[in-house]
Amino acid sequence: MKDKIAGILEEVKGFSAENLDQLEAFRIKYLSKKGIVTGLFTEFKNVAPEQRKEMGQLMNRLKNTVQDKIVSLKEGLDKSQDKINKHDLTLPAEAPLGSRHPLAIVRNDIIDIFSRIGFNVSEGPEIEDDFHNFSALNFPANHPARDMQDTFFINKNPDIALRTHTSSVQVRVMENSQPPIRTISPGRVFRNEAISARAHCIFHQVEGLYVDTNVSFADLKQTLFYFAKELFGEDTKTRFRPSYFPFTEPSAEMDISCNICGGKGCNICKYSGWVEILGCGMVDPNVLDLCGIDSEKYTGFAFGMGVERIAMLKYQINDLRLFFENDVRFINQFKSTI
Ligand code: DAH
Repeated sequence: MKDKIAGILEEVKGFSAENLDQLEAFRIKYLSKKGIVTGLFTEFKNVAPEQRKEMGQLMNRLKNTVQDKIVSLKEGLDKSQDKINKHDLTLPAEAPLGSRHPLAIVRNDIIDIFSRIGFNVSEGPEIEDDFHNFSALNFPANHPARDMQDTFFINKNPDIALRTHTSSVQVRVMENSQPPIRTISPGRVFRNEAISARAHCIFHQVEGLYVDTNVSFADLKQTLFYFAKELFGEDTKTRFRPSYFPFTEPSAEMDISCNICGGKGCNICKYSGWVEILGCGMVDPNVLDLCGIDSEKYTGFAFGMGVERIAMLKYQINDLRLFFENDVRFINQFKSTI
């Protein structure tokens, strides 16, 4: 029996486990009810009394060795398991990359298209005085757009308001530079309007301004033809309708052939085949003079468009409020490289 115990002891000492399953099998093999060590203790009653002390000690040693072995092997296995589970903080993030907001995508597209023909980008403040938002743009003193209905005033006398359009940036650019001027001004604008599927009190515009010697309405048309085809596709048709803005003379609105039905007629284009995308015109000489540009020497054209409207047409979105809700199920659908 002594030899038998010595043999088992050697076996136990030499054991190693690669995983927790092997270790559990080891425990069962030696310590379970039918295990080898338990078996030895059952045989103990057959041991001659004079040998019992020595045998008892040997058997206890064996049992302790098995138990120690299990504890130390388990510690080692837990540690290496931890290493596998621990996050390696030096790895690049696995989280999905964010996507651009559809309005930012469209704004960037517009900037990209105009920058290819030499337009730079300019910005102005969202809080404006009456001069830059209205007076310098030739709005008569009693013009309804100055009414409290449309404008969010911050102060009356002097009038300070949230800008109602990005045309205010034209004024700032002309005040601060001389022709040739070729600039587009993207930005947020504010109007006191009820929120609906088609209107919001905060929205985005891109303003365009070109001032130089001999700028004509033909230049305006060609620039906007180019723009419409670049943004909506080569097959896009355009048309100009006479309109009125205080700051341009003559003024027009530009329509594009409905990109939803291809001009056949649908509820988006109200069965006309055309949708309006911007206002434009030749800068009124009064505006040039008010902004410090010699209207005898220079002419210019200007245009202004709503980014939400263009995005709705481009992506066939029928409710403008979606742009402002930041619902990831909506926003995740837009991917962009710029
Ligand atoms: N500011 C106008 C608006 O908010 C849009 C506009 C029309 C801008 C004609 C222009 C323009 O520069 O020439 O409705």
